[in-house]
Formats: sequence, structure tokens, C-alpha cells
Amino acid sequence: MQDVTIYITDREGEKHTVLAPTDMAMNLMEVVRTYELAPEGTIGVCGGMAMCASCQCYVTSDHKINAMEDEEDAMLSEAFNVKENSRLSCQIPITEALNELEIELAPDV
Ligand code: FES
Repeated sequence: MQDVTIYITDREGEKHTVLAPTDMAMNLMEVVRTYELAPEGTIGVCGGMAMCASCQCYVTSDHKINAMEDEEDAMLSEAFNVKENSRLSCQIPITEALNELEIELAPDV
């Protein structure tokens, strides 16, 4: 499989169905940016280094995704609007296991 389907609800509450490639070493934040689902400058501010939380999302399906590393955990502990299911989308690599994943973008702060 080369592409996985991801359902992304943007900050306006609109749901998008997108295809994400598993063979391009992309992360979820880059997918959101590629499809321009959040205004430029409001997501991926640190370039995917787990240092800004602008890419925070809520995972609303029960997929098994990669566990959080310490940097992500630390960043989320300082971020706003954090929920149980919060993740930094830049820390989630696109893999086949993510097929039909559902996420919502956290509000821009
Ligand atoms: S892009 Fe900055 S934490 Fe994800």
C-alpha cells in the first residue's frame, strides 16, 4: 500500500478526507500543510521539532499509533487546549497503520 486515507477535521469544524503517502517519510503535520488545511504560519511553526505545539491535534479514532517520545510529552505539558487524546502531529509518521485515522486540529492559540 502506498497511500493511506486520513480524515482530518480542520479548525472550522470541516471534515476532509485526504490521501497520505507512506513512502515519502512524511509526518501528519506535513500532510495537513500539504493539503492547506490550516493557514500558513499557524501550523508547523517549529518545522516539526516538537518545540511549538502549533501542530497539536486530537486523535479521535482508536488507532494504534507510535508512542510519545519525551520531547512531545514535555511540549504538550506546556501547551494550551490539551486533552487526553492530544498529540503533536509532526511526531506521527505516516505509516500503513494509520489508514482511516481520524484527527481534529486543535485550536490556534
Ligand atoms: S510543528 Fe512544532 S511541535 Fe509540531
